[in-house]
Amino acid sequence: MKYFIIAIISYLLGNISTAYILGKIFTKKDVRDYGSGSAGATNALRTFGKKIGAMVLLGDVLKGVIAVVIGKNIGADIGAYLAGAFVIIGHNWPALLGFKGGKGVATTIGVVLMINIKLALTCVLLGIIIIAITRMVSLGSVSGMALAPVVAIVFTKPFDLAFFIFCLFVAGMSIYRHKDNIKRIMNGTERKI
Ligand code: G3P
Repeated sequence: MKYFIIAIISYLLGNISTAYILGKIFTKKDVRDYGSGSAGATNALRTFGKKIGAMVLLGDVLKGVIAVVIGKNIGADIGAYLAGAFVIIGHNWPALLGFKGGKGVATTIGVVLMINIKLALTCVLLGIIIIAITRMVSLGSVSGMALAPVVAIVFTKPFDLAFFIFCLFVAGMSIYRHKDNIKRIMNGTERKI
């Protein structure tokens, strides 16, 4: 029962789409009607500018952090992984917004920061370097997150299967959510910042 409660709370937290809410409050626009159509920090930055983009980034990181804190308190390590997975799912497919959400990058950063700070910082650093070189947020995001299972093997001694599975989830989810970006990267039409 406690794991069910964690999943529900986290999924609902994920549904709180800061890009959608702040876009509506400050500009009356639905971020999903613009740019890449994603309800995330990158598209909010692209559509509404730096201030709203930064607020969205912060808000989405924060909901990942909050979900894991709640999950860990209720259900220890497994509770934290479950909360992390469901807040990301809630962000990507929010029932409250017709299942059309974001790509989960900022929320995943918040989640992983609370689960394993070394892993989070390593993946974020890699992502930032790639974004700085290529100017493609999607390429940096997907590379950073896809690296998570590899970094997990390096950083966790002894090997922690549950954590590794969680990292595989993070990597798989990010690749899946960025599948259109990956196609555009391959054919040279991905948006740059
Ligand atoms: O955080 C999402 C980013 O990786 C890509 O966003 O809007 O360019 O598809 P977008």
